[in-house]
Amino acid sequence: MKIFLDSADVNEVKKVYDMGILDGITTNPTLVSKQNQDPKKTLKEVCGISNVPVLAEPVSIKYEDIVAESKDLAGIAKNIYAKIPVTVDGLRAIKTLSGKGIKTAVTLIFSVEQAILSAKAGADFICPFVGRLDDTGVKGVEVIKEIVQVYKTYNFSTKIIVVSVRNIEHIHYSALYGADSVSIPFKVIEQLYRHPKTDEGIQKFIEDYNKVKKQGE
Ligand code: E4P
Repeated sequence: MKIFLDSADVNEVKKVYDMGILDGITTNPTLVSKQNQDPKKTLKEVCGISNVPVLAEPVSIKYEDIVAESKDLAGIAKNIYAKIPVTVDGLRAIKTLSGKGIKTAVTLIFSVEQAILSAKAGADFICPFVGRLDDTGVKGVEVIKEIVQVYKTYNFSTKIIVVSVRNIEHIHYSALYGADSVSIPFKVIEQLYRHPKTDEGIQKFIEDYNKVKKQGE
């Protein structure tokens, strides 16, 4: 399973890269805007940290504009993927861009049907929104399970990055159900390392060691 960081914050990207677990980065216009500087500058900085896929989202609505904006984004760095919302114009743009060798992802996926259309359009990745599905009263991880099953049935090569991850349970079930990747906010990545018994165990090992170490002093 691949781990993406859901962030446009260069310091967070550096920290996760240093942890040795960074397989990719998802951004969205909201995350990019939080950096309070030119969006292209932010994306260039993020792309420069590691040669992993970096998903960057155009804000255009019409087909021609989405294609033009995505090409512009792809020009920022070789590891950029244009992350386009699942609309009629968006999927048409995905087909055009993937035919021109531009790497793509489809975002704002909330259903199995949208996932099927995205795979048929030729996207490299899809981004289903597990947390925002939970917000609607649907169990998000169950939609992930269904998408994984359908993609397996039809041998679709499009890879699934579970996004809108809010807690450990989202990651646990995404892994159990066989999603290719999860994109995790920095504060949730830190939680992944933690277990109370690990902290307790470290403390006890240090105490026990120090008891006998003192005997030799
Ligand atoms: C991916 O980048 C998505 O846009 C992101 O995970 C959405 O997360 P949110 O639903 O917590 O805003």
